[in-house]
Amino acid sequence: MTQPIVFSGAQPTGQLTLGNYLGALRQWTAMQDDHDCIFCVVDLHALTVRQDPAEFRERILDLAALFLACGIDPDKSTIFIQSHVPAHAELAWLLSTFTMMGELDRMTQFKDKARSHAQNVNAGLFTYPVLMAADILLYGTHKVPVGEDQKQHLELSRDVAVRFNGLHGPVFVVPEPLVTGGGAARIKDLQDPLKKMSKTAEADLAKVMILDDPAAILKKFKKAVTDGLAQISADEVNQPGVVNLLNIWRAAKGVSMEEALTHFSHNQYGRLKVETAEAVIALLEPVRTRFLELRSDPAELEGILGRGAELAGARAETMMKRVLTALGLPLNARRFGSAQGRS
Ligand code: TYM
Repeated sequence: MTQPIVFSGAQPTGQLTLGNYLGALRQWTAMQDDHDCIFCVVDLHALTVRQDPAEFRERILDLAALFLACGIDPDKSTIFIQSHVPAHAELAWLLSTFTMMGELDRMTQFKDKARSHAQNVNAGLFTYPVLMAADILLYGTHKVPVGEDQKQHLELSRDVAVRFNGLHGPVFVVPEPLVTGGGAARIKDLQDPLKKMSKTAEADLAKVMILDDPAAILKKFKKAVTDGLAQISADEVNQPGVVNLLNIWRAAKGVSMEEALTHFSHNQYGRLKVETAEAVIALLEPVRTRFLELRSDPAELEGILGRGAELAGARAETMMKRVLTALGLPLNARRFGSAQGRS
């Protein structure tokens, strides 16, 4: 029986945060047993902001090791680096001719990034969602587990797939977003709980990194911004900082908001902060240990990524053959064998 195909990715721009873990990676690992999962370190996406080459190379490997440390099992899932499969960039070009300027111009992430990187608003930053559509559509993906901030990009991938299929026949599967519940879809910045927790935030205290040690995690939660209301409620408008801590605690513990409110009915912010830190430390400590082991064995990591790229590459070629054929581009016999397929 074939399993639904799942694709997701994360950018190697700085270390991953607790938001990435709760909003995405933890959900990925939970899907491995009953889905055909493909997980990708999207290094080409990360080039839309300037990277120092030597540091970038290490970060890409760090992120691959972190995927594994979080529980992605290379015997169950395909894990690879985006730039190892050239079809991603190739399909992105083809799909850019099916994506409208107006659609890209509406992307809130582009607007945010154009503001925060005003000195480098490159064309790649604008066409970023097209590369993301290529990542997803290349594998006939059914489901894409992401945090809430990626939903708009996913909608665009769907629109592009529908437009292409309408003109050239049913080549692409139209993917569904899968946004995690339990308060984890949008973990907020600890210093400004109106913003999402972002790995590129400047302030150290704003974000908990997956690889932070227990002392750092405790310190960051103790300094988290709350309010002066002295009550613990689920009122997101008036108490965004408190609600964020509740969401993190209950995501780490796997319990509902009602249970969290009962547990913290003492209304003591100090206890809420420390207990949230403790729950997060318990969750992340094994990940950190496994990460350090994996990074000390480069040959093992290289082997896993090499096999992943081979598997993903073979699947990507099958789709590229269909796409090129559908568009009327002559197939390169060296690449695809001598048959000039029409299917
Ligand atoms: P990236 O690298 O910013 O984040 C990786 C995943 O983490 C989720 N996430 C969060 N979830 C909850 N709370 C937060 N504060 C939080 N911050 C991040 C993101 O939603 C994401 O699921 N464009 C993507 C990478 C990408 C991709 C793809 C994803 C490229 N191609 C194809 C899925 C499918 C990105 O920048 O994610």
